Amino acid sequence: MVRVVFVCLGNICRSPMADAVFKKMVVEAGLTSQIEVDSAGTAAYHVGSNPDMRTIECVQKHGIPIHHKARQFKIQDFELFDYIMVMDDENLGNVLKLGGTEGENVFKMQAFDDEKSNDDVPDPYYGGTDGFDHIYGLLNESCQNLLRYLVEKHSLTSD
Ligand code: 4NP
Repeated sequence: MVRVVFVCLGNICRSPMADAVFKKMVVEAGLTSQIEVDSAGTAAYHVGSNPDMRTIECVQKHGIPIHHKARQFKIQDFELFDYIMVMDDENLGNVLKLGGTEGENVFKMQAFDDEKSNDDVPDPYYGGTDGFDHIYGLLNESCQNLLRYLVEKHSLTSD
């Protein structure tokens, strides 16, 4: 089992979106018995909350189901997950303070975009719905490349 957790700050916008987008890809690839997917936030502000309405509306527009209650990233997650995928440099710093190694078990999401840019996935929380459409595009691209990478690296085959 390959275990992936997406991490942002609040766990209501970017990481639950990545979680939902990636889960759908894993289902469509027939890999649900081999890839486990979750998300978490480095902050505790929204623990127990559903994703932001703008995240829900954005993914539902693309036919993607989303069910998540926000939770805070914890030290035990280093044992529970093989790939800790953070959205920006702030999340990266917060995670690395607790443990893990960048390039080993901790990666920026956009280390997997088409250009391997390693850029931040910008925080859409204080902006409008267009910011959510923008990050959907970024996350979709990086999730596709991440799935391809995991299939190859771990020799995963469809159920
Ligand atoms: P996220 O976005 O980290 O993508 O979930 C945010 C959500 C809430 C806050 C900041 C960012 N906040 O400050 O409450």
